[in-house]
Amino acid sequence: MSSTFLILLLSLPYLSAAFSYPRNHPPNTFHARSNSRNVPPQGFYDPTDHGGSYLTQVNNTFPVGLVLGEPINAIILGSSDDAVLQDQQQNGGLRNYFLSFGFAAECLGSHSGSDQAANLGDGHGYLNETAVIRWDYGDPTVGTCKETIEGGNHFRYWIQNGNDANSGAIFMAVSYELPSSLEHDIIFNGYNLARDWLIGNATAQSQLIPSSNLTNQTTYSGQTSFGGYVYETNVQYVSGLLPNGSDGINHFGSVGANGTSAVDGLTALMSVKILQGPVGATKSSSGQAPRLSWSYFALSLTLGSFVLSLVPSVL
Ligand SMILES: *[C@@H]1O[C@H](CO)[C@@H](O)[C@H](O)[C@H]1NC(C)=O
Ligand SMILES: *[C@@H]1O[C@H](CO)[C@@H](O)[C@H](O)[C@H]1NC(C)=O
Ligand SMILES: *[C@@H]1O[C@H](CO)[C@@H](O)[C@H](O)[C@H]1NC(C)=O
Ligand SMILES: *[C@@H]1O[C@H](CO)[C@@H](O)[C@H](O)[C@H]1NC(C)=O
Ligand SMILES: *[C@@H]1O[C@H](CO)[C@@H](O)[C@H](O)[C@H]1NC(C)=O
Ligand SMILES: *[C@@H]1O[C@H](CO)[C@@H](O)[C@H](O)[C@H]1NC(C)=O
Ligand SMILES: *[C@@H]1O[C@H](CO)[C@@H](O)[C@H](O)[C@H]1NC(C)=O
Repeated sequence: MSSTFLILLLSLPYLSAAFSYPRNHPPNTFHARSNSRNVPPQGFYDPTDHGGSYLTQVNNTFPVGLVLGEPINAIILGSSDDAVLQDQQQNGGLRNYFLSFGFAAECLGSHSGSDQAANLGDGHGYLNETAVIRWDYGDPTVGTCKETIEGGNHFRYWIQNGNDANSGAIFMAVSYELPSSLEHDIIFNGYNLARDWLIGNATAQSQLIPSSNLTNQTTYSGQTSFGGYVYETNVQYVSGLLPNGSDGINHFGSVGANGTSAVDGLTALMSVKILQGPVGATKSSSGQAPRLSWSYFALSLTLGSFVLSLVPSVL
């Protein structure tokens, strides 16, 4: 019993590495395509073709019983590099990409935002968001705690991966919220501005994107990096997906006013490529990693038996 325990203990680094890193299926290149995805030319399937919507569903809005929505105003296209579309931080995945432009998972891993549901027309029906991601105020570790309290930019996202429309595209509802003391209402023009501040960061703009000057076909591009991965993001704004107005929009009274619509009708389409990864992260074949792991495991076993033989009385 106790010797097994000791060996397990010594093998912990090996075990945790095995669980946190998909060693069995390392991508050959960053540009590898997953076979199960089927990406149409525009990079995603229109949710409204199969009963879905570009608006989320928000329950418990006022007046009670009225279902309002928030705009899904940015989409990471399914034609982006496969690695970027994987919902993980390893291998330059989606979470690492978010970190590259200042957005991180929620404060200390606990979920504090309310849930919203979206139907991407992929056969899943309405699903709660995959996660809420917040502006990290320059600190990827605890910066999102500040966002939760003081407000700021944040988004919910959903992955279009159901059998009816498996593009792998990431649908994001971006908005800029007020401090928690103000019950996380959205700032004036806070859907359009939040989208453009996110795009400004994701394309490393030195100046704010002029929201009121954007039109169908406006483009931006730029590079960001985190953890040794360098990303290039090409953005194209398009009209005609979202409604242009305030009808049915959550917080419509405070977000839109005086001639400004809560939703300006533009969606930012993001195409993301990995230009560069950390040394050794890309071209290595699957042959070596398991051998390294097994030799580590063997070493753990040997060490375990050795320590056991030294201190049998303690155990
Ligand atoms: C979605 O969120 C709501 C509200 O938090 C919760 O009641 C519901 O159980 C969630 N649904 C799923 C499938 O997790
Ligand atoms: C919204 O309300 C419906 C019906 O009560 C419930 O099934 C769903 O989980 C709720 N969704 C969220 C996000 O709260
Ligand atoms: C980046 O995001 C922050 C936080 O939302 C914002 O204050 C800043 O203006 C953004 N930068 C650009 C260039 O949009
Ligand atoms: C926005 O458009 C207005 C009117 O056409 C123009 O005067 C202004 O310079 C533009 N702003 C930016 C930042 O492009
Ligand atoms: C936006 O521009 C594209 C390309 O020019 C065009 O095909 C599309 O019809 C335009 N959308 C709207 C809503 O005008
Ligand atoms: C809209 O205009 C009114 C009157 O000028 C002003 O009191 C109010 O603050 C404005 N609202 C916003 C959100 O700008
Ligand atoms: C939205 O509507 C306003 C007011 O009618 C119009 O000026 C603007 O061009 C429209 N924007 C888009 C993206 O359709």
